[in-house]
Amino acid sequence: MLEVKNLTKIYTGRRNAVTALQDVSLRVKAGEFAVVQGPSGSGKTTLLLTVGGLLAPTSGSVSIQGQNPYALSPERRARFCGSAMGFVFQQFHLVPYLNVERNILVPSIAIPSNQARKRAQALMDHFHLSERAHHVPSELSTGERQRVALARALLNTPKILLADEPTGNLDAENAEIVLNYLVEFADNGGTVLLVTHDAHSTRYAGKAICLHAGHIVSE
Ligand SMILES: Nc1ncnc2c1ncn2[C@@H]1O[C@H](COP(=O)(O)OP(=O)(O)OP(=O)(O)O)[C@@H](O)[C@H]1O
Ligand SMILES: [Mg+2]
Repeated sequence: MLEVKNLTKIYTGRRNAVTALQDVSLRVKAGEFAVVQGPSGSGKTTLLLTVGGLLAPTSGSVSIQGQNPYALSPERRARFCGSAMGFVFQQFHLVPYLNVERNILVPSIAIPSNQARKRAQALMDHFHLSERAHHVPSELSTGERQRVALARALLNTPKILLADEPTGNLDAENAEIVLNYLVEFADNGGTVLLVTHDAHSTRYAGKAICLHAGHIVSE
């Protein structure tokens, strides 16, 4: 379902080059919930962006449902990755002037169909957001914003879910709701790749991978 081989990512900026990932290989099958755990700066977000088709690797290969997203034109890559994968960003990336419902509907583009609205309503119910449907992000708690970001990633019912610290700002009860949802998603045949610094999430995972300074140190 999702495979990366010998992935290396070197950021070359105006200052020093930073090797964020070095020779990372991993594979997550359909129905599998994988957690990559590592300290701050170990390359977790870099790995997720690379897998998600948002950041080209320096070398190595990425395969999503057998397709290398970087072999596609930027437009086709965006369409392919947008339908195959849902992405929960570490910093939410919610649209500040859209309310909760509209933020969740963003992946359905301009005019939401009835089906997308129904799906958005179901997700708001599931993540306890229905009473905040008409609030904009600045009127939400951090945990509520995190749940909106997760609901948005699930709108198009992707087969693969990539999540960057999806429980980082949640209390125990809400973290449990999110992690149980991810377990259920994988149990229903979905593929989950979650990255976190928090060892707690690995208890929910079928597969745990430790990342340290851009290297996989154990699996
Ligand atoms: N655009 C960039 N340019 C240069 N270096 C970068 C860039 N983005 C990240 N880095 C560096 O790459 C390394 C890995 O960063 P990354 O964001 O992937 O870590 P992380 O594991 O997600 O950390 P955190 O837990 O703090 O979110 C870090 O040393 C970081 O400073
Ligand atoms: Mg990160």
